[in-house]
Amino acid sequence: MSASKEWVRVAYCEDIPLHEGRAVLVGDREIAVFNLGDRFLAVDNRCPHRGGPLADGIVSGESVVCPLHGWKIDLQNGNVQRQAETPACVKTFATRVEAGTLLLEVISETSRCPRSNGHVAVSRDGSSLETPKEHEYEDLGFS
Ligand code: FES
Repeated sequence: MSASKEWVRVAYCEDIPLHEGRAVLVGDREIAVFNLGDRFLAVDNRCPHRGGPLADGIVSGESVVCPLHGWKIDLQNGNVQRQAETPACVKTFATRVEAGTLLLEVISETSRCPRSNGHVAVSRDGSSLETPKEHEYEDLGFS
């Protein structure tokens, strides 16, 4: 099995309102994507405190405030800004926009045993975006 990076389409940009987040599924991993107006940022949709859904948080500048207990997460680097004494962070993902579609860079592990649902990106509302055919026999994994 080998790992390589690939870009996966996860949402239409118009479906992510300005200064809000949305949760998308890539494989079995939930990722929060945020529209900052001039760009999109993405982090794991799991607060390092107790797993709160960061996609539902309040966006403030380049940060999001967790809706459960108010921890503030820097969306650029994933570091916790409040509680500042907590050396925790969430994983970040590179983003790219192509023709109105948001893509995330993820690690793909090539497997000899294809799985039918290993690389379909699905938004929380259940709509899906098919990934390119050349990734048909790859399983998504993450570092
Ligand atoms: S779960 Fe996010 S601050 Fe507690």
